[in-house]
Amino acid sequence: PVLVVDFGAQYAQLIARRVREAKVYSEIVPHSMSVADMLAKDPAAIVLSGGPSSVYADGAPSVDPALFEAGVPVMGICYGFQVMAQALGGDVARTGLSEFGGTAVEVCATGVLLDGTPAHQSAWMSHGDAVRRAPEGFDVLATTAGAPVAAFEDRERRLFGVQWHPEVRHSEFGQSVLEHFLYDGAGLAPDWTPGNVIADQVAAIKAQVGDARVICALSGGVDSAVAAALVQRAVGDQLTCVHVDHGLMREGEVEQIERDFVAATGVNLVVRDERERFLSALAGVTDPETKRKIIGREFIRVFEDAQRDIVAQAGAHGEEVKFLVQGTLYPDVVESGGGEGAANIKSHHNVGGLPDDLTFELVEPLRALFKDEVRAVGRELGVPEEIVSRQPFPGPGLGIRIIGEVTAHNLDILRRADAIAREELTAAGLDGEIWQCPVVLLADVRSVGVQGDGRTYGHPVVLRPVSSEDAMTADWTRLPYDVLATISTRITNEVREINRVVLDVTSKPPATIEWE
Ligand code: XMP
Repeated sequence: PVLVVDFGAQYAQLIARRVREAKVYSEIVPHSMSVADMLAKDPAAIVLSGGPSSVYADGAPSVDPALFEAGVPVMGICYGFQVMAQALGGDVARTGLSEFGGTAVEVCATGVLLDGTPAHQSAWMSHGDAVRRAPEGFDVLATTAGAPVAAFEDRERRLFGVQWHPEVRHSEFGQSVLEHFLYDGAGLAPDWTPGNVIADQVAAIKAQVGDARVICALSGGVDSAVAAALVQRAVGDQLTCVHVDHGLMREGEVEQIERDFVAATGVNLVVRDERERFLSALAGVTDPETKRKIIGREFIRVFEDAQRDIVAQAGAHGEEVKFLVQGTLYPDVVESGGGEGAANIKSHHNVGGLPDDLTFELVEPLRALFKDEVRAVGRELGVPEEIVSRQPFPGPGLGIRIIGEVTAHNLDILRRADAIAREELTAAGLDGEIWQCPVVLLADVRSVGVQGDGRTYGHPVVLRPVSSEDAMTADWTRLPYDVLATISTRITNEVREINRVVLDVTSKPPATIEWE
């Protein structure tokens, strides 16, 4: 892999993504990792990321000069550029001129990194210190007003660096710099493709699972669907997927899994129709946390029943279900501290809150992937587009989008309104712009309306379109008025119980995305 050494800014993930966009596999490692441990990963190249610190700040992370002696191509970015310059005997100083944002770069020699790019270009900067003199053996490639040395390289030793952030889109030729480093500087080939990811994962899954039985809770979301399709590709009928139909899905979703997903992937699927069970457990409940607990608890019971049935069916061979497929993604792995080791982990809340005493060995074929890469792999595996491009949908489903009691009647109303909103957003080509758009039924609220020649006393629904990178923060999406108008007209015309459509214009924080 190409190792991206994380010096503690938010940029490491972005660099890792850009390297992968260049079709070269990358992994993020903490700067605290020893050079020996880094080299043990047999890196094809190393990128030192930006960081929040000044190389002169107390406790500023540094880099072991041994890293540059190992013969591995290295590129330093921003802070990584400065620690590199310092470690190799260059001069890093406070120039008194900070540069933030778009900055004019003057190219003095294109070298490998800036090959084919113009003499004047704009790059995105964020630094206070600057490299005043390059280490011996390095060619200076560019300067800016605040950075006498803004890019350098030593072709012989295959060491490269830029003061700016090539991973940021505002850097005009950023991706070109990264690609020159990877292809020309480090001699790597662009061969990390969805097809190769699938081949690698299929081999890894086979090695992990052997001929044991594997189970997967298929929620209908992108991650569990793609993970299941990969495991199916690897071990076929050893995998059983369980879809718990809790009756809280949106219109058409259960059918998409039951019919389209199975047809496309050949997955062994057990659908458990548990709609009655969930409805009676939820009867009379309006408190959001209580609803979540009930849905989680019932989910576990159903999943345990399903597991017992699978074991009973395979009983003649005395087989157990030893492995559980989870759709864990790379950002979760990075955020929980790099996630090295620990193959035997207890199942956790991702699949609707499975309990601690239900121990499986986890199969996590998406652990190395970002969401858009998961989608690309899913498409390559032939997972239906409606599933691959699906918006995030909470485990408790429509149960937490009904403010009030979850009844069959309320679910039916909400399902119809939600389908109209989704249909119109798709028709308007807005799916790429929004992260998700919950439709929330205010079952506890009524308001007066007039329809035809009569007074109505119906319920409102709330449209909650949000834009977000990761759902941790979100802003409400400024949808075009005419699209809002069409959705509102259609919902009030076609869903008799609803006589008012309102728009949620709150960001997160202070509000959450879901209403409950
Ligand atoms: P909130 O409402 O906390 O939602 O801003 C953040 C994101 O998480 C989704 N969400 C859930 N997903 N189980 C899930 O699998 C849940 O219990 C759950 N609650 C919220 C929500 O749709 C949004 O994408």
